[in-house]
Parts: sequence; C-alpha cells; structure tokens
Amino acid sequence: MDAFALLREKVLGCTACALSQTRTNVVFGVGNPQADVLFVGEGPGEQEDLTGEPFVGRGGQLLDKMLIAAGFSRTTNIYIANMVKCRPPGNRDPKPEEVAQCIGYLREQTRIIAPKYIVCLGRVAAQSIIDPSFKVTKQHGQFVQKAGVWLMGTFHPAAILRNPNNKPDAFDDLCKLRDHIEAGI
Ligand code: URA
Repeated sequence: MDAFALLREKVLGCTACALSQTRTNVVFGVGNPQADVLFVGEGPGEQEDLTGEPFVGRGGQLLDKMLIAAGFSRTTNIYIANMVKCRPPGNRDPKPEEVAQCIGYLREQTRIIAPKYIVCLGRVAAQSIIDPSFKVTKQHGQFVQKAGVWLMGTFHPAAILRNPNNKPDAFDDLCKLRDHIEAGI
C-alpha cells in the first residue's frame, strides 16, 4: 500500500474527536493525488456524510460545473479535501478543537500530494490556511505564496447558492487559477 492509501486507512478509522460518534462515513477526499491543485473545503455536509465523498450535494454539483467550465475536474487534475473529515452535526461550523484534532490529516495529505496550488473554499479554510483575518468578499482570487505553494481563497459553493451574485466572481477566480497555472509562474 502506498503512503496515501495508508493515510486513508488511518483516517477512515479515526475516533480522535466527538464527530466520529455521529458520522456515517469519514470523507477523506477525492481526486488525483498527483494533481498540482488541492481544493480545501470546510467539512462534510449531509450528502457527503452519506456517500463518503466531498462536495456531492447541491453545492458540489455547482462546484463541479464551474470547475469543468474552467478546465478542472475531480477525476483528472485536482484533489478535493476538507478541513475536517467528519460531518459536524446540523452543518454547524467545525469547532476549533475539532479542526485542531483533524488538521494533521490535511497536513499529511498536503505533504504527500505536494500541490503547487491550494484553493480554499470559503472562510473557514481560508482563515485557517491563508490568514486568520481573511475576508472572502475582499480577498478572493488573490494569490499569495507561502513555503513555495500558491494559496488562493474563493467563495464556498454554499455561499454561491445563498447569493448567486457571487457566481461570476467565483468563476473568475477559477479562470485566474487556470491562467496562473498556464503562465507557469
Ligand atoms: N461543504 C464543504 O465544505 N465540504 C464538503 O465536502 C461539502 C460541503
């Protein structure tokens, strides 16, 4: 078994925090572990908990459409994971202690995938990975480099569903990502 498959096995059996008691499935992540781009969401919702795959609900379907239109897909050139691997009950934000317990798994995933880009989907991921005071409405689509990796935050798909006015900006962010990669910066 390779390092990524071993990590997956470990995470699927995790009981480190209380979320493990209410989950149906651990949502480890999906996509190409050799990809240059890692997308990071917040945590599984109901559909993700039921299926074990990230972003499969209404928001996920919208995300997939936007990704494909910008030249990305979860089956080829990206990997998608979450800050926490188990569903916070009632879709509440994950608690800081739950993130603290789980973040090591995302760090391990990141170390193995070794992405050139990390795209944070929404405030929770962006504030944890890019900057604790990150404001999605103000800073979305801006690239910052940390430890040799380009980081960018954009709208969470659920925020686009809540406010469809965000959709053109969110799509533009994905197009900027594609252009940034193609420019080979
Ligand atoms: N929202 C997230 O942040 N992640 C998912 O996997 C699904 C919904």
